[in-house]
Amino acid sequence: MDRSLTNSNNLKNRAKKVVPHLTGTFSRAAPSYVEGVFPVYAQSAKGSHFIDVDGNEYIDYLMALGPITLGYNYEPVNQAIISQLKEGILFSLPHPIEVKLSEKICEVIPYADMAKFEKSGSNAVTAAVRAARAFTKRDKIAYCGSGGVWHDWQAAMVSRDGGVPKFNSELIKIFDYNDVDGLEQIFEDNKNEIAAVVLEPTMYEQPQNDFLDKVRKIATQNDSLLVLDEIVTGFRFDIAGAQKYFNIKGDLVCFGKGMGNGLPISCITGPSEFMKTFDELWVSSTNNSENLSLAGTYAVIKEMEEKNTISHCWDIGKKLFYGWNKTVEKFGLDAKMYGYPIRMHMQCFDSTKKESLSMKSLILQEMIKKGIFMSVLGGTFICFSHSEKDIENTLTALESACEFVTKNVKNENYGDFLEGLMPKSIWSMKIFPTKKNF
Ligand SMILES: Cc1ncc(COP(=O)(O)O)c(C=O)c1O
Repeated sequence: MDRSLTNSNNLKNRAKKVVPHLTGTFSRAAPSYVEGVFPVYAQSAKGSHFIDVDGNEYIDYLMALGPITLGYNYEPVNQAIISQLKEGILFSLPHPIEVKLSEKICEVIPYADMAKFEKSGSNAVTAAVRAARAFTKRDKIAYCGSGGVWHDWQAAMVSRDGGVPKFNSELIKIFDYNDVDGLEQIFEDNKNEIAAVVLEPTMYEQPQNDFLDKVRKIATQNDSLLVLDEIVTGFRFDIAGAQKYFNIKGDLVCFGKGMGNGLPISCITGPSEFMKTFDELWVSSTNNSENLSLAGTYAVIKEMEEKNTISHCWDIGKKLFYGWNKTVEKFGLDAKMYGYPIRMHMQCFDSTKKESLSMKSLILQEMIKKGIFMSVLGGTFICFSHSEKDIENTLTALESACEFVTKNVKNENYGDFLEGLMPKSIWSMKIFPTKKNF
């Protein structure tokens, strides 16, 4: 495919003058990709494909950073939005759709008695943390892994923490996924001070040795709340989310991304005992009850229920996951997919077993030239619109990328074949995980 990126590059040059970091979402900006080879602006999308501003078409696996669980420009959701649009976007009073969607969420999500809508995943998690602090009358929070990096706006645990008061970092304790000892140490060091344990049920890891069960128990024993960040796992691992998939119970559970198939919506759910805390908190925003997102999300959930879309995602995801790993193995490249078939990411290792971003960038550079868009720094997501044909085309492109790499790269000089810039990581941790003091 002979691709032009002229329009993308022109827009990028205009944006440099008027948009901080080129766009409102760090991970969407050009430096997150192999800049110069990846497109910078998308014009339109349908199903699992998008077209960039130069008319090039791609099979997408980043799915707008995860939200697209059904597919782009998805007809039944479009119809629901259009029909709501005819009634109105936002009123001085709430619209019945807020009640209807809350009831639907309480029906689908385990232990949910109530649902409070927000506009983004970060807002939902920030609000849940605030409610946990108010409920327990404690200030400190135990966060798992890098969760909280982007999930809680008030947390000062990563670079780019300017503007967050310094005392905030004293309130944040971190433990590693699967490290129960680390979490126990946090509770030992901060007796009766931890308001909540905040945990993404999984990113890519498998929970080991009843990790999730033990976290639940530790939170309960210490009268702390368990806040589950299901922004990515929700409406993806199962329609009932990771609580069902892993058989774990959260006290406040946050959803976003996948529930709205791209609409700006998120929510916090849980037993009314905890959710009623919001009655007393100033967690309120003009657009939280915006009707288009509420109506569209209702249609998303109905579609998931009626078509069992999530099981299709698992099936098709397995074809990509296992097909990918078979292909890279055939070429002797340490470039496997890790994680879950509906949420995976490729990791490349050099001969010293060190993670190699240049190898990953090169493989994905060769794939983008063949019309396959995969994120270098982020995840690979499957939606209901990905087809067997998409997977076949992707594996064919992978085969030729592997051929290119094995034929040309000598002494692991992957970087020499990059036709653009190496992707730049957008953050680094500033607070490190607590370990057990033996
Ligand atoms: C696990 C998790 N929680 C929360 C968020 C924040 O969601 P949002 O970008 O909608 O604010 C993200 C974003 O990627 C996420 O991956």
